[in-house]
Amino acid sequence: MPTQPSSNDATRDRGGVDGTILEARNLTKRYRLGNRDVDALRGVSLRVRRGEFVALMGPSGSGKSTLLQLLGGLDQPTSGEVVLDGEVISHLSDAQATRLRREKTGFVFQFFNLIPLLDVYENVALPFTIAGDDPRRGDAAIRIHNVLELMDLLGREHNRPDQLSAGEQQRVALARALVGKPAILLADEPTGNLDYATGGEILDELWRSCDQLGQTIVLVTHDARAAAHADRVLVVGDGRIRDEIELGRRTNRDAGPLIARLAQLGL
Ligand SMILES: Nc1ncnc2c1ncn2[C@@H]1O[C@H](COP(=O)(O)OP(=O)(O)OP(=O)(O)O)[C@@H](O)[C@H]1O
Ligand SMILES: [Mg+2]
Repeated sequence: MPTQPSSNDATRDRGGVDGTILEARNLTKRYRLGNRDVDALRGVSLRVRRGEFVALMGPSGSGKSTLLQLLGGLDQPTSGEVVLDGEVISHLSDAQATRLRREKTGFVFQFFNLIPLLDVYENVALPFTIAGDDPRRGDAAIRIHNVLELMDLLGREHNRPDQLSAGEQQRVALARALVGKPAILLADEPTGNLDYATGGEILDELWRSCDQLGQTIVLVTHDARAAAHADRVLVVGDGRIRDEIELGRRTNRDAGPLIARLAQLGL
């Protein structure tokens, strides 16, 4: 049985969409590559509301992954600011950035990044283990159980990653990202390495964590079918936000309307 949530959790668990949880202000990112500069981001501003599901779409090289990394404090912008859950995160020391990532963000990537020698339970428990908490007791154990249940992984606790299907491995990665109840879940092409049906399952899991738990999500994808799960789609091109398509929360995640809007925009 879940323990009494804190007021912060209560706000987060209520679902619905209210208030700004993540804001980017005029972000630029310039990479130095040999003797050449690459302007990956050229002034990106955006806001994500608490409980919202936002997709970033755009062609290869348009700056989506760079933007996601800045939004989650994995890297620092050349200029501009990121504010996550009331805290400016774009100019933290390494130690502060590590703490922030542990406490406020969950990441999922195309390659599942599980630890091969750890079983499912141990992989999902990793955030607690790293923080020095015993993942087999108390609140940690309850949260791990709940997230394994949510991801339909009960009964798989003792499998190692090589004893799981690709879809199951990605569900473990998602469980690990969600177990700390992050302020924001950042997903970069999480279905990029999965077949159509399995990718669809992962998208449904993401959507349910947003709709049922109020999890705020930013998803990077090439795929209109994936982006159609979002409340809002930001179209990235050449380091800028080119367009914004408001889809709203729908139980029917039909990609048709989004594809029609993208076609109108010439994309
Ligand atoms: N570490 C880096 N050093 C130098 N240039 C980089 C680095 N990372 C990204 N870039 C460049 O920045 C630009 C944006 O890259 P980014 O990875 O953000 O694009 P993307 O939209 O995620 O592309 P894809 O859809 O292929 O993943 C590209 O021109 C890329 O070559
Ligand atoms: Mg990318």
